[in-house]
Amino acid sequence: MSTEKTIEWEALRRAAQRAAGNAYAPWSRLHVGAAALTELGSVVTGCNVENASFGLSLCAECGLVSALRSGGAERLLAVSVVTEDGRPLAPCGRCRQLLLEHGGPQLPVDGGPDSQPISLAELLPGAFDASELSRRQP
Ligand code: THU
Repeated sequence: MSTEKTIEWEALRRAAQRAAGNAYAPWSRLHVGAAALTELGSVVTGCNVENASFGLSLCAECGLVSALRSGGAERLLAVSVVTEDGRPLAPCGRCRQLLLEHGGPQLPVDGGPDSQPISLAELLPGAFDASELSRRQP
């Protein structure tokens, strides 16, 4: 019997869209929300929070990972990142790296209602990860 949790992509997408509604994005006006299922069965969310000093802006995925850890969960099982209209947004390169550490290469990322989810390994091939560090440890 499979122990795999069923992923309710539509519910995850709706949660991400709700989070996008709370984004603080006066500079780009791109309101982004992220939602993920965790290994505990909980759903964590995040939204982008911009800053007048543009480089300090936080992506939605940053808030998501912070919510993951602060809520006591450790692993992301599935992630949806959308804009306010509910359409999926390709996670930026930095956030692909961030998601990798907490979800692993097989983490499925929502492709929207008309597309299959795509794995992080496909979104971030040849990624730098913890094995690169341990391999170089003296
Ligand atoms: N943004 C995210 O929240 N996540 C991404 O993966 C891509 C970009 C945000 C950052 C910024 O507030 C706005 O989208 C425009 O780049």
